[in-house]
Amino acid sequence: MTRESWHTRVGFILAAVGSAVGLGNIWRFPWMTAENGGSAFLVVYLAIILLVGVPGLLAEFVIGRRSQRNPAGALYRLSGSKSWGAVGLFGVVTGIVLLSFYSVVGGWILRYFLASFTGSYFGSPGAYFEAIDFGASAVGYHVAFLGLTALIVLGGVRDGIEKATKVMMPAIVVLLVALAAWAVSQPGAGAGLSFYLDFDAAYLQDNFADVVGAAAGQALFTLSLGVGTMITYASYLGDDHDLAFDGAAIAVLNTGVGVLAGLVVFPLLFATFGELTGPAAGGGPGALFVSIAGAFSQVPFGEVLAVLFFGVIALAALSSSISMLEIPVAYLVDEHGASRRSATLGLAGLVLLTGSVNALNPGLFTFVSGPLVDLMLTAGLAGFLVFVGWVLGRDALAEFDSGAGRATKSLGPAWLWSVRTILPLFLLATLALNLLALAGVSVF
Ligand code: PHE
Repeated sequence: MTRESWHTRVGFILAAVGSAVGLGNIWRFPWMTAENGGSAFLVVYLAIILLVGVPGLLAEFVIGRRSQRNPAGALYRLSGSKSWGAVGLFGVVTGIVLLSFYSVVGGWILRYFLASFTGSYFGSPGAYFEAIDFGASAVGYHVAFLGLTALIVLGGVRDGIEKATKVMMPAIVVLLVALAAWAVSQPGAGAGLSFYLDFDAAYLQDNFADVVGAAAGQALFTLSLGVGTMITYASYLGDDHDLAFDGAAIAVLNTGVGVLAGLVVFPLLFATFGELTGPAAGGGPGALFVSIAGAFSQVPFGEVLAVLFFGVIALAALSSSISMLEIPVAYLVDEHGASRRSATLGLAGLVLLTGSVNALNPGLFTFVSGPLVDLMLTAGLAGFLVFVGWVLGRDALAEFDSGAGRATKSLGPAWLWSVRTILPLFLLATLALNLLALAGVSVF
C-alpha cells in the first residue's frame, strides 16, 4: 500500500498552520503578553520564535520528510538505533498526553459555542463556568470534541485533515479580522490596546529569566514543537518543497493570529468593563471564558458576536487536536500495520478514558496542562535537535536545500551549527530551570 501524502503545497502549509494556531494563540498568548510586559514581551517572544522556533520547525520537517515516517519510525530508521526510536516514541506518547487535556478544553469551548446561540450563560457567566468546568458534563463535552477530532482523522490525510484545514484556516482569519475591527472601534477600546501592547521595559529588565522562560514555553507550544506533529505532517511531503520558506510562512501566520486574538480580547474587555476585573485580572484557565462571556452579555448583538468568537476558537482547537491524534495514528499505521480506521478508533477510545480522568480531576488537569506539557515539549525538541545535528549531521543539509532558493541555501550551515550547539543548550537550560521551579527551588 502506498503511503498517504498531501495533495498540494498550500494544503500542507494550511494543515501545519492549523496545527500551530490553536488555544495557544487565542487563549494563552494574549494573557502571557499582557502579564509579562506587553510589547516588551512581544519582542522577546518574536526573537525566540525566529531564533529557536523556526530552526526547530525545520529540524522536525527534515526528520519527517527524509524518513517518510511517524516520529518513532523516523528516528529508528534514520539511525538504526532502538534508543533513538525510543526518543521518537516519547513524542508519540506526548501526543496522547496533550490530547488528553486539550480535548477537555475543546469540550468547554464547544459548550460555550452552543450556549452562545441562546445566551444561556449571559445572566451569570462566573457561576456558569464553575458549574461546567470539571465533572460529568465536562466529560460529556470532552467526548463530543474528541469525536469530532476522530471523525476528521478517520478521513485520512487528504480527504480528512487537508480538506478540513483548508476551509477552517481562512474562516478563522476572516472572522478574527472582522471581530478585531469591531472590537478596536468600540468606545473605550484604547485602554485595552495600551494594556495589551504597553512597552514595559522595566518589567522585562527585572524579570528577564522568567520572561524568557515563559516566552520559550509559549513558542514551543504554539508552533506545535517537541511532540513530532511537524515530523508527522512533513512525512507526507514530497521532496520538491522549500522547507525553509514553508517554515517561515507557518511561523509568520501563527504569530499574526496570536496578535489578532489579543486585538479582540483586550479592547473588548476594556470597552465593556473599563478595566480588567474579577477573573480576568487573575488569569487562570477559566479567565477567558468568564470575562469574555461577561463582556458579550453586555454589548448589543452579544449572542451573534459570541457565536462567532467561540466558533473561531472551536475551529482553531479542532485543527490542532487532529494534529495531536495523527501522531499516534501514523505510528500504529506505519509500524504496526494497523488500518487508519482501527488505529483512530482505538486511540480515541484510549483518550476518551485519559481525558475523562482530567475532566474529573482539576488538580491533575492543572499539572498536565502546565508543567508536564512544558517539560515534555522541551525535552522532546531537545532530543530531535540533537538527532538532526549529530546523527544526521551534514545529511540534514541536503534535505534543507532541496527545492530551496539560493537565499535559504546559504543559511543552511548556520542553521545546522545552531541545531548542533546553542539550541539544544538553550532548551536544556530551560528544562533545568523548569524542573527546579517544579521542585520549588528558585534560582533567580
Ligand atoms: N500549537 C497548538 C496550540 O497553540 C498546540 C499543539 C501543540 C498542537 C503541540 C500540536 C502539538 O494550541
